[in-house]
Amino acid sequence: MSYTTIHKSNTSADAPPGRGGKIWRMGLALLLPTMLVLEAGAAKPLAEPAAELTVLHWWTSASERAAADHVAARMAEQGLRWVDGAVAGGGGGAAIKVLNERTLRRMAPKVAQLNGQSMSEWADMGLLLELDGVAQRRNWSRTLFPQVMSQLTVRNHVVAAPLGIHRINNLYLNKAVFAQQRIELPQDWPGVLRAAKALRAAGITPVAFSDEPWQVATVFEALLLGEAGPALYRRMMVEREPQAFDDPALERSLRRLRDWRGLALPATPPGAASGPQPVMLGERPWTDLVADFAAGRSAMLITGDWARGELGSLGLEGGRDFDCRAVPGTAQAHLYSIDTLAMLAGSGAQAEQEKMAELLGSATLQLGYNRIKGSVPVRRDVPVDELDPCAQQSFALFANPATPRVPSLVHRMAFSEVGKNAIIETVHRFALDPAQTPAAAQRKLQGLLRALAPQAAPTQPPRPAR
Ligand code: GAL
Repeated sequence: MSYTTIHKSNTSADAPPGRGGKIWRMGLALLLPTMLVLEAGAAKPLAEPAAELTVLHWWTSASERAAADHVAARMAEQGLRWVDGAVAGGGGGAAIKVLNERTLRRMAPKVAQLNGQSMSEWADMGLLLELDGVAQRRNWSRTLFPQVMSQLTVRNHVVAAPLGIHRINNLYLNKAVFAQQRIELPQDWPGVLRAAKALRAAGITPVAFSDEPWQVATVFEALLLGEAGPALYRRMMVEREPQAFDDPALERSLRRLRDWRGLALPATPPGAASGPQPVMLGERPWTDLVADFAAGRSAMLITGDWARGELGSLGLEGGRDFDCRAVPGTAQAHLYSIDTLAMLAGSGAQAEQEKMAELLGSATLQLGYNRIKGSVPVRRDVPVDELDPCAQQSFALFANPATPRVPSLVHRMAFSEVGKNAIIETVHRFALDPAQTPAAAQRKLQGLLRALAPQAAPTQPPRPAR
């Protein structure tokens, strides 16, 4: 695996061919002044051998790295070279900023991790290569889950290659800690609270939690699903009905978020002053939380199943060492995010990009990659009996047409990059400010939704899920 700076590769200022060219030109007109300023100081283009594909992504933890290396190794077998453009930062906030900056400077990578609505935005500007030929050749409409296929398709064109499906509404329980302390594994909220009390009494911090905004909001969306149920969640995040934001379920989930975070705070010494004094947990990377959980320094963790991949890299196995339950109230639902790699248009490497896309969708790669990453294959024809019980459960749920599948807000399945960031910020402020009531935060979210809704409706709403 080579780690190389992304070379200047996409130097064509011509509008990409076909659909979206007009929108692209409009976007370009807006960006042009900035581009000219930046171009003036930009370095001379460097030539990039055709078989090299620069890939911008945010997989930097041990398991993410191993999963990316797996893809790179399979590519090498086909004469393609993955030139790594990793940008650290869980949830991809920093990576997307770098991608914007590089594209503005006409130094776009050839391949980029672009998920959900961000991918649609880039496709709308005509910046992504259409992969309809690949999809047809490899029969994606038959082999991929319909929900995945619809996620990859913008205005009837396939604009990205799929990697894996993550489930977000997981509650991980460290089995060794529960067993050592003879505490029953909780099934519901009262059980969680009882367990937390017993863990505290034993000197163990019950919950691993980070104040990093995307992590706070990832917990929030899973709690919201539990309180609201899939139908109301959809009305809020997919239909964007302002009235749905009036529902008391929203206030309840904000309250739950604060309570959950409280279970990660150091125990208050007896006699210490109480009141609305903010206590910070620090914006710790998600991998630190996983390490704490794995070492038994905390016993419960709500997050996406990339954590399961990471636990695997630390030698822990789902089902044996930790239990993967759904967040209470969400057992039947699948709060999903789908990882996709988009191919940037006009890079002069279309053949290689298409070859890589074909490989990403293949059954063997799907199995190898997802086993490491913690996500599950995007294809319905892949045998998953070799995956751990947690992955099998996620796969079976996603595959069942009766399952309510709802899109993750935080991981770009529902709102534009800007819209989702605004919601994350509002939830984050509430979580850290004890002076703000859940009712006040609910009003802020309602206001925000009203402001976002007219212009932020997705170009292509996620497939209806029940
Ligand atoms: C998600 C992404 C996952 C995982 C996670 C933590 O947005 O879909 O693949 O990497 O962030 O960084």
